[in-house]
Amino acid sequence: MSTLAYGERVMLLDAKKRRYLLTLKEGGEFHSHAGFVPHDDVSGQPEGAVVRSTKGAEYTVLRPTLEDYVIEMPRGAQVIYPKDLAPICMLADIGPGMRVFETGIGSGALSMTMLRWGADIVGYEIREDFANRAKANVREFLGESVLDRYDVHIADSYEGIDPALGPFDRVVLDLPEPWQVIPNAETVLRPGGVLVAYTPSITQAAQVRDQLKGRWIDARTIEVLHRGWHIDGQAVRPDHRMVAHTAFLSVARFLGQGSRAMRTDGNVERVRR
Ligand SMILES: C[S@@+](CC[C@H](N)C(=O)[O-])C[C@H]1O[C@@H](n2cnc3c(N)ncnc32)[C@H](O)[C@@H]1O
Repeated sequence: MSTLAYGERVMLLDAKKRRYLLTLKEGGEFHSHAGFVPHDDVSGQPEGAVVRSTKGAEYTVLRPTLEDYVIEMPRGAQVIYPKDLAPICMLADIGPGMRVFETGIGSGALSMTMLRWGADIVGYEIREDFANRAKANVREFLGESVLDRYDVHIADSYEGIDPALGPFDRVVLDLPEPWQVIPNAETVLRPGGVLVAYTPSITQAAQVRDQLKGRWIDARTIEVLHRGWHIDGQAVRPDHRMVAHTAFLSVARFLGQGSRAMRTDGNVERVRR
């Protein structure tokens, strides 16, 4: 790949693995407790180069990955973290050309992950400032052309979903009362489609599951635990700290408007999973 250029989003990584995102500008400066790094020292460098601040601190320069970007990007609403972003895409079976209805949009972390996986997204977000933030984040990381696959409406998804926007292959929910959206999702999701809801609390997950009855099958709720390890010579142990909880992921498949789910044997389901 080419060397780093003005206008590009780059990441400086310090000795303590702290990440700093910046957009390279002619004459710009990156300031920290350790003085500053002129952007002119970074522009023209290959990825992996080491630059020094005016007080001698060293930084490795790299283009940010999606994981780096999601963690450091500007945000309005709370984002979903990488720990859950990839499992959501797997549970929702996101892939190229998949038509996804997403609500709420928030800061766009989940949107940019699904767009990266090739989805076409129609989104409902109630707050215009968040929708604009999400679109700016998507444009910044994935480029202007991706906006052709990202159609965000300022709208309340509890009130309904415009049928003219459907049908959809997938519905992905991250908002306070996702169970309110499920009856609306049933009007635009195609038979066999998948719905995933991200809910921080288990009582929210239980309400989602309560709503996923009748026309839905194969409903499940999971939690993803992520424990880092400290590996340094003979010192090999789990990290002292971990993100113990973020949210529950509930998933189910839609059978279609006129269908009813057959009764499933709980024991058989348990053995299979
Ligand atoms: C936690 S944020 C979503 C974060 C997003 N998944 C991300 O990864 O960046 C929840 C969003 O839902 C939006 N919201 C809440 N109620 C809504 C509704 N009834 N219709 C549409 N959006 C709604 C909020 O404005 C907020 O932006």
